Amino acid sequence: MSKPNFAPLKLFITGPTYIRDDIKQAALLPEFGHRDAENDLRFGPIRENLRKLAGAGDAYEPVLFLGSGSTAMEASIRSLVADGETLLNVSVGAFGDHYYNIAVANGKKAENLKFDYGQAIDMVVLDAKLAELKPEVVSFTHNETSTGVTNDMKAVCALIRKHGAMPLVDGVSIFGGADLDLANSGAAMYSTATQKSLALPAGFGIGFISREAEAKAEKVTNKGHTTDITKQLGRARKNQTLTTPNGTLANQMYVQLERIVSEEGIENRFARHLEMRGMVEKWAEGLDGFEMFAPEGFRSPTVSTVLCPAGVTSAQLKKGVKEALRAQGYLMDPGYGKLNTALEADDRRLVIRVGHMGDITPEMLAEYLVKLEAELKKL
Ligand SMILES: Cc1ncc(COP(=O)(O)O)c(C=O)c1O
Repeated sequence: MSKPNFAPLKLFITGPTYIRDDIKQAALLPEFGHRDAENDLRFGPIRENLRKLAGAGDAYEPVLFLGSGSTAMEASIRSLVADGETLLNVSVGAFGDHYYNIAVANGKKAENLKFDYGQAIDMVVLDAKLAELKPEVVSFTHNETSTGVTNDMKAVCALIRKHGAMPLVDGVSIFGGADLDLANSGAAMYSTATQKSLALPAGFGIGFISREAEAKAEKVTNKGHTTDITKQLGRARKNQTLTTPNGTLANQMYVQLERIVSEEGIENRFARHLEMRGMVEKWAEGLDGFEMFAPEGFRSPTVSTVLCPAGVTSAQLKKGVKEALRAQGYLMDPGYGKLNTALEADDRRLVIRVGHMGDITPEMLAEYLVKLEAELKKL
């Protein structure tokens, strides 16, 4: 067999992201049977550490779905929006629209309340919409990966609760990189994934499911099989997965979560993410013609978005800057495709993204920003 010719790139995209060597090595741990006692040795600690990382306490049950973040999101829709109910989805970008599209694809009655690119959820507008539509369920994105905007999850959930609706939260690109205090968040179900701020390969969707959500799901019909959270919870409580898990990823996840909780420390991990956001803010301020895209107070700790000077084109970013950095061993993010296409069509300034999630260190980021700056200055 010929040796694969894969480039060893340092990923500064927004997930999948950089994986440490010791976590890659953990893929070599023994395979196991998922209905055997060995399974418990992996998934027992995994579920306990997920609770700690989320600040979930006993209020939520962590469930691992074979799939990705979208799998957990789809399960939240299938299991928690009953026939005849209305879902209001609140979107501040492409991934907000993704949640809405999942609901529509599953035949749910749904409406999409959209805010402009780069904006966070406007609470006054949402309040009025909730009063008008009276939805039973509301879904929204905690961290909008396409625009680098983080919504105030607790405040949004509180507003949804004020109107008697059930909040479903997509936290795919922030979980593991920020303090969620999930136990006090008000979310009924929180969905996330392995390949972003947990710095693991993709392969599991993760759902934190409240007792309230479970009680509702028991009454909802037509939940599918893998998207039925009551079936998933039945297995999760035995530290098992409903379907055969990715055992290699489970081994890696066991090691990674033990390392995060017992070696790095959860608070240190969150502080490191905030430090890296601060580094990009300072860097962008010092770069002629560039500035941060997301508004202050709503900037993501895991993905920063930077406005380019007027006149910079998508082709320059994708072919020029990205390829120049690839040649130096880095995978650059030239902005979310659909966002820059829309901005370009409106003659607005384009946005690049810097992913600084998971196990990327401030030293790695500093090195990357120097290289990125050198290429951007050639534009
Ligand atoms: C905020 C957000 N939601 C959902 C998704 C979809 O997640 P997955 O690709 O794990 O299904 C992504 C992926 O980038 C995301 O960033």
